[in-house]
Amino acid sequence: MLQNSAEFRNLGMSKSKVWTLGAVFVGCFFLSSLLVGAQNPITQPEEVSALRTIKRSLIDPNKNLSNWKRGDPCTSNWTGVICSNTTLDDGYLHVQELQLLNLNLSGNLSPALGRLSHLEILDFMWNKITGSIPKEIGNITTLKLLLLNGNQLTGSLPDELGYLPNLNRIQIDQNNISGPVPTSFANLNKTQHFHMNNNSISGQIPPELGRLPYLVHLLLDNNNLSGYLPKELAQMPNITILQLDNNHFDDGTTIPESYGSIPTLFKLSLRNCNLQGSIPDVSKIRNLYYLDLSSNHLSGPIPTSTIAKNITTINLSNNDLSGTIPASFSGLPFLQDLTLANNSLNGSIPSSIWQNRTQNASKHLTVDLENNSLDSISGSSDLPQNVTLWLKGNRICSNASSNNIVLFCGTKSENETTISTATNSTTSCPPQACPPPYEYSPTSPIDCFCAVPLPVGYRLKSPGFSDFPPYLEPFEVYLTNGLSLNLFQLYINSFEWEEGPRLRMYLKLYPVYNVSSNSSNLFNASEVRRIRSMFTGWRIADSDIFGPYELISFTLPDIYKNEGSLQGEKEFLTEIQLLSRLHHRNLVSLLGYCDEEGEQMLVYEYMANGTLRDHLSGKTKEPLGFAMRLRIAIGSSRGILYLHTEADPPIFHRDIKASNILLDSKFIAKVADFGLSRLAPVPDIEGAAPAHVSTVVKGTPGYLDPEYFLTHKLTDKSDVYSLGVVFLELLTGMQPITHGKNLVREVNIAHQSGMIFSVIDGRMGSYPSECVEKFVNLAIKCCQDETDSRPSMAEVFRTLETIRLMMPESETFLAESIETNPEKMSSTPPSSSSVVKNPYTSSDISGSGLVSGVIPTITPR
Ligand SMILES: *[C@@H]1O[C@H](CO)[C@@H](O)[C@H](O)[C@H]1NC(C)=O
Ligand SMILES: *[C@@H]1O[C@H](CO)[C@@H](O)[C@H](O)[C@H]1NC(C)=O
Ligand SMILES: *[C@@H]1O[C@H](CO)[C@@H](O)[C@H](O)[C@H]1NC(C)=O
Ligand SMILES: *[C@@H]1O[C@H](CO)[C@@H](O)[C@H](O)[C@H]1NC(C)=O
Ligand SMILES: *[C@@H]1O[C@H](CO)[C@@H](O)[C@H](O)[C@H]1NC(C)=O
Ligand SMILES: *[C@@H]1O[C@H](CO)[C@@H](O)[C@H](O)[C@H]1NC(C)=O
Ligand SMILES: *[C@@H]1O[C@H](CO)[C@@H](O)[C@H](O)[C@H]1NC(C)=O
Ligand SMILES: *[C@@H]1O[C@H](CO)[C@@H](O)[C@H](O)[C@H]1NC(C)=O
Ligand SMILES: *[C@@H]1O[C@H](CO)[C@@H](O)[C@H](O)[C@H]1NC(C)=O
Ligand SMILES: *[C@@H]1O[C@H](CO)[C@@H](O)[C@H](O)[C@H]1NC(C)=O
Ligand SMILES: *[C@@H]1O[C@H](CO)[C@@H](O)[C@H](O)[C@H]1NC(C)=O
Repeated sequence: MLQNSAEFRNLGMSKSKVWTLGAVFVGCFFLSSLLVGAQNPITQPEEVSALRTIKRSLIDPNKNLSNWKRGDPCTSNWTGVICSNTTLDDGYLHVQELQLLNLNLSGNLSPALGRLSHLEILDFMWNKITGSIPKEIGNITTLKLLLLNGNQLTGSLPDELGYLPNLNRIQIDQNNISGPVPTSFANLNKTQHFHMNNNSISGQIPPELGRLPYLVHLLLDNNNLSGYLPKELAQMPNITILQLDNNHFDDGTTIPESYGSIPTLFKLSLRNCNLQGSIPDVSKIRNLYYLDLSSNHLSGPIPTSTIAKNITTINLSNNDLSGTIPASFSGLPFLQDLTLANNSLNGSIPSSIWQNRTQNASKHLTVDLENNSLDSISGSSDLPQNVTLWLKGNRICSNASSNNIVLFCGTKSENETTISTATNSTTSCPPQACPPPYEYSPTSPIDCFCAVPLPVGYRLKSPGFSDFPPYLEPFEVYLTNGLSLNLFQLYINSFEWEEGPRLRMYLKLYPVYNVSSNSSNLFNASEVRRIRSMFTGWRIADSDIFGPYELISFTLPDIYKNEGSLQGEKEFLTEIQLLSRLHHRNLVSLLGYCDEEGEQMLVYEYMANGTLRDHLSGKTKEPLGFAMRLRIAIGSSRGILYLHTEADPPIFHRDIKASNILLDSKFIAKVADFGLSRLAPVPDIEGAAPAHVSTVVKGTPGYLDPEYFLTHKLTDKSDVYSLGVVFLELLTGMQPITHGKNLVREVNIAHQSGMIFSVIDGRMGSYPSECVEKFVNLAIKCCQDETDSRPSMAEVFRTLETIRLMMPESETFLAESIETNPEKMSSTPPSSSSVVKNPYTSSDISGSGLVSGVIPTITPR
């Protein structure tokens, strides 16, 4: 508040008393932009204009970008705009990240994106953007992450993207991109991730990609690629996932031998690619977790060489393979899925596949050998627990000898796909004590810990396993380590396998219970930002077994949204409407508001004589006399009484203090700053006490109702308490808290020991002692600890009137309180004049020292 009003004074605006509403708006806009320009760093203008152009080409049905019209992008919290935290050499702030995940945006990507010259993260994931990828993105030399997956983009990939020197990640999967992978992409010397699956990319994979030094994931599955498989891809020194499923390579294409000896590979997936020839020897791939060569035309025998011990999944089904099942599939401790169905395999099935699994073995093993020509099982046909065998369509089934084998020849039943990880640990916690959006954390070490979790939609794009439960725990460790959270803060609400296969999960992240903080049931704002940026900036390290992840959603519960959001704007407007209806001679009138340059401010009427606090602290030349102080008390109580009884709905001020009581040119007291005002609770029909319990105690130390502080129950008596403290200030001239001394306590002590006049302010001249005594008694009553012992505001007002009537007739300046009928608190325009004798000479108030009052009062939110 003070900083901004100070700015107005500095700019010489303090004397503009006559403000029309229109002038207020123009003034605000003009002044705030001046201030921003003069003192605060701003966004580089070219980037501001680029952002405006970018917005114009988007369609934003949910108005998620409505704040993009207001203020400066970097300093006014534009949705999704994240900037450098300091100015760079050119003196400007620069847009570093554009994070527009999952906002229902449609429309096109503007070529103006290319003017965001310092952008590092460009994120439009999971929207409905159409049109093509502008080639101008290739101008952003700083770009690290290009995240456009999950849209409806068409057109081809611009060559220009291949010259981005800092690009780490291209995610354009799940669009309708056509045309070839540009050969220029072989220049992307820093790129680790090509995620281009589920498009219509066509043509030959450029063999030149083999020279990419850092590529880790090459995902080109579900496209329309043709040509041959370049043997050069095996030269990539860091490749871990090569996934090309569901493409249609030219007839006669074989799997290059070189693919079988890529030392770094974890996953080779070439399902349904129209491949011919034989299966390569993969024994040199030391860390292979996942091998899928199914649904091709591969022929010949399965190589008998050894297979990586870590393998979880082998799928060679739907080919033309012949010969026998090799012993190399035996004793693989982590094997979960061996699928050789729909081939021409013959001979006997080595039971060592399931017999030789060690104690370490993953829990489930499924062996699918359907539709081959297998005729026997070598060794025992007794299956250990958790091993499933499918043999239907083999010779062994036509002359089934044992019951076991008849069982294996049956038809598969469909399994449940969605698994909710149920838990009972919180069922004993009383549900009514933890209402939505709060939830009991199922994983917290603290019993019945009630908090608001952050929900995260998350998907493993290319996992290295086919059965999740054995990897649940390692996954939780991996993710919480990556996020720097405790293991117990993560709860996997559900998971589901999707086509791909991909593993979709719904996660909940809980804050940590902190005994010394009563706000530990929420993440703080910086923690929310940190966690979000861990996901959206791909700052969680890659994992071999879990593969790349996708962030599907990160939707904050309403309780986490603050300033700058639509919510805040709506609240502000509601408040304005409420305040603009209030007119009373003892309330400072709201003249208008500014909602510009990202700042929301209230503009109050000009108050020539500043705050009561200034006058009591001796900042002014002449101290206030007792009669004047009494008049100020009467005026203040009448203003507050109006708020309590006449305003509809009633308003509790919540922050009454000497610096919120302003004095106009005629020394009429006006209560100011309804910034903290909230609608008063409405009693329910039964007449029971309204259960209005707020979670945050608002107010100013020294003025705070002790009972409100303890119970958080706000009543009209909280204002009575605060006003009582102001009365004590009027009587003693002291501040509510000075050097650790509490005014209420000091006055009570003096009063109890019969020494009350020792604390009365000596500067207020002579006064009728019986009036002061009555006033002191009233103030002390107002400041009782117990709500019920305090008088109502109406009683306060009546008592003050009684004191006024006890004052000598000569105190003419009390006239103003007689003049208006206190019972009839109608809408009195703030400018209504009354003839009041000014206790100061005119020269007293024209001094420059006085101009430092609150003129006009601006309350930023
Ligand atoms: C500003 O950002 C840089 C990196 O962008 C970071 O290293 C630095 O800690 C940040 N400074 C502050 C004060 O946040
Ligand atoms: C997107 O649109 C859907 C339906 O129109 C709505 O439920 C959802 O809240 C919107 N999401 C956002 C972030 O606006
Ligand atoms: C990718 O495309 C395949 C084939 O059209 C489809 O089955 C799969 O669901 C798609 N995946 C995603 C994540 O869109
Ligand atoms: C795939 O490419 C072929 C040519 O190789 C073309 O005829 C066909 O239309 C393409 N299909 C799609 C869905 O783009
Ligand atoms: C297998 O996996 C483990 C951890 O999952 C890893 O430490 C090891 O290097 C992998 N490779 C081999 C050959 O065991
Ligand atoms: C094998 O072929 C049958 C019949 O076409 C099909 O139903 C089954 O799903 C196939 N098995 C696998 C593992 O693809
Ligand atoms: C299976 O284990 C037995 C001993 O437990 C061993 O003799 C045999 O060679 C193993 N077979 C294979 C294929 O590993
Ligand atoms: C479990 O696996 C580890 C490493 O793979 C191995 O050293 C250990 O002997 C295995 N334990 C059993 C009981 O097979
Ligand atoms: C079989 O699976 C069940 C449930 O997943 C598990 O409790 C049990 O330990 C497993 N048995 C073996 C031998 O792995
Ligand atoms: C926010 O929460 C985190 C984690 O609990 C804590 O480390 C950090 O100090 C908190 N920051 C603030 C500003 O309170
Ligand atoms: C922008 O957001 C930050 C953090 O949420 C907040 O501290 C700041 O006041 C907001 N600024 C504006 C102008 O809304």
